[in-house]
Amino acid sequence: MVTPPVDENVVRFFDTTLRDGEQSPGATLSSAEKLEIARQLARLGVDIIEAGFPAASPDDLAAVQRIAREVGTADGPVICGLARAVESDIRTCWEGVKDAAKPRIHTFLGTSDIHLKYQTGMTREQALAAIRKAVTLARSLCDDVEFSPMDAGRTDPAFLVEVCALAVECGATTLNIPDTVGYCTPQEWGDLIANLIAETPGAGPGSGVAWSVHCHNDLGLATANTLAGVMAGARQVEVTINGIGERAGNTSLEEVAMAIATRPQFFNVRTNINTREIMKTSRLVSNYTGMAVQPNKAVVGANAFAHEAGIHQDGVLKNSSTYEIMTPESVGLHQSRLVLGKHSGRHALKARLKELGYNIEGDALNQVFARFKDLADAKKTVTDADLEALIADEFNRPEEIFSLVDIQVTCGTMGMPTATAKLRNANGEEFVYAAVGAGPVDAAYKAIDAIIQAPNTLIEYSVHSVTEGIDALGEVTVRVAPAGREGDKRSFGGYGADSDIVVASVKAYMAAVNRMVAVLGYGDRQPEGEAATVGVKSAGD
Ligand code: KIV
Ligand code: ZN
Repeated sequence: MVTPPVDENVVRFFDTTLRDGEQSPGATLSSAEKLEIARQLARLGVDIIEAGFPAASPDDLAAVQRIAREVGTADGPVICGLARAVESDIRTCWEGVKDAAKPRIHTFLGTSDIHLKYQTGMTREQALAAIRKAVTLARSLCDDVEFSPMDAGRTDPAFLVEVCALAVECGATTLNIPDTVGYCTPQEWGDLIANLIAETPGAGPGSGVAWSVHCHNDLGLATANTLAGVMAGARQVEVTINGIGERAGNTSLEEVAMAIATRPQFFNVRTNINTREIMKTSRLVSNYTGMAVQPNKAVVGANAFAHEAGIHQDGVLKNSSTYEIMTPESVGLHQSRLVLGKHSGRHALKARLKELGYNIEGDALNQVFARFKDLADAKKTVTDADLEALIADEFNRPEEIFSLVDIQVTCGTMGMPTATAKLRNANGEEFVYAAVGAGPVDAAYKAIDAIIQAPNTLIEYSVHSVTEGIDALGEVTVRVAPAGREGDKRSFGGYGADSDIVVASVKAYMAAVNRMVAVLGYGDRQPEGEAATVGVKSAGD
């Protein structure tokens, strides 16, 4: 089966959260998390999922294969893998995607003079020969082939036409034009795309070739450039959730989808995106990558639908269209009609969760209900934002190699901050450790480190409250980098929510460290401390 033919009225969404997004510092995901994100992307309605870079490592290959088999069903999205324009990459990529009902190979080569000179050391002729070989090979394996001339934004436009024409001649079905370093401006970018569509032999309107744009956000212009590309005739946009990606990131899926949905007359195209799944997808990606969404981020930021100024509040109360160009519901945010509090029962909670898009039953519901009751005891009313944070904390967790049983801290002005942590490993053994630190969070992290023995550096820690008020739920995101692994630039994020911020901090740290242990192994470590005995570590150790 192949990707359906290009429809001039429809813009396809090619989501590269799991490939370009995962390349952003600290966004490393485990294979199980990638699969869950891919499932959510399918629910969101993306047309193509770039599931990874199979030649990067055996783990990447396995993750792409799993997504191809489990998400790449006949009625699901196209599953794509990335490959450099070299034979071994392309063959490995095919191994990754071939079990999908609609597989795609995406191969690329830098074509700007800067990339040719400094990165590959190729002449233009050598680059053309490599593209011919790569695209021909990819097409011999797969009917759906995408080619990207990397750094197209800084490539000589005449050479770009030559490159694109050659890729089509060799069988490419999608030509993706990347502004790899986020250098172009919207007018310039739109003109470049229009010119390529008009000038590339064999790839004009009606040829069946899909034109695509892939923009980076170094100058904050990624969404504007992508939309300029659509106006110029591109019918595929390459995007990531929350705009995560290399350096300043990629184009945000949610921004492009909502621009097209909000201004249908202006863009005059449709998409297959179910915009009501946007918030859920954004939260999932943020929780798993540990990359918090900035509050003023368009569409998915915490303040995107908040009105502070009196005159704005007055307008919105009279008629929301005064200051809202899209409704919160259209992106999957719901206004509470039910107020939940400590007297609310399981049914009310279940109904509210269902309205928020979570069908939770059985044991999972019992788990959430217990958490809800604890929160409702501490807080007068439990808001939708609180529920979303609880769900994220309960379910958006990595595979737990160690789970938190208990944490106890003592701190204040009278003594040394001390924490006692009790963790359980996969065999059910429990380890207890007490540690002294510079503060309660530091002490807790030291106690956890002593048990898990996965050396790391805490490189980011942030805490914020979900709602207003002293009794609010606190959300913590952390990022850790493995220590003592020469050249390993990966880092791992974690998220936790609780009305006690030390507990939220511990949950976030446990999530990040578990993620790191799942991805990097550390199989030969022995936990410190003995089952159910107490070890002690002081701040100086
Ligand atoms: O930014 C870029 O050029 C890329 C290519 C691999 C498409 O990510
Ligand atoms: Zn990119």
